[in-house]
Amino acid sequence: MKKLFIAGNWKSNKTNAESQLWVKDLATKLSDVAADLSNTPVVVCVPFTSLSVIRYALGAAHVSLALGAQNVSKFDEGAYTGEVSAKMVKEVADWVIIGHSERRKYFNETDEDLAIKAQKAKDAGLKVIYCVPDDKTPVPEGVEVVGYEPVWAIGTGKTDSPENASAVVSSIKAKTKVATVIYGGSVTGDNVATFVSQSAIDGVFPGGASLDPEKFSHLIHAALAATK
Ligand code: PGA
Repeated sequence: MKKLFIAGNWKSNKTNAESQLWVKDLATKLSDVAADLSNTPVVVCVPFTSLSVIRYALGAAHVSLALGAQNVSKFDEGAYTGEVSAKMVKEVADWVIIGHSERRKYFNETDEDLAIKAQKAKDAGLKVIYCVPDDKTPVPEGVEVVGYEPVWAIGTGKTDSPENASAVVSSIKAKTKVATVIYGGSVTGDNVATFVSQSAIDGVFPGGASLDPEKFSHLIHAALAATK
């Protein structure tokens, strides 16, 4: 059985009350695959405001998901209004997304900024999911997972072809020596099998499909079934 890696990204969605309901609902829907999940990392990357709430809700529901933030400061703690440092994130999460295309586009984060963030995350003991739109974008050393996300496929309902995604993923692996590379861009429960059955692709990175427990559970079940 292939060891899959699935990371859901809520982006800027969900209140604390909604976060708690999501955990409760998802825990019920995943109870039949609990054994498989002990060998399949599923990380849910949520807004900073939901991290503590989800952490406690996951513990109470006994569901084996890992928790990630979606961004981290390039500074240590200090006089940086509005920023959340890597040390602060590490207190409540084990993972962090760095370099998502939405951060690059709307917040003008450059490869240089992102390399600093990756270093800060690593120094704090966080594991990094580093996003790139292609196989030419630099990837800092020491990241755990790379997410290949063609910008035109994000939130559009249009996916890359599994064959092309696989070719780009292979090229990223060859250039970066990162062992785990996943695909993101309009992944759903209905198309996930086509991606995870490509031998180079180690998993998927759904945004929209991670928001609804029904859809996320469908996606996880379909991914597990396709790689059994
Ligand atoms: P999407 O987002 O699944 O909503 O297209 C993917 C992403 O942001 O990587």
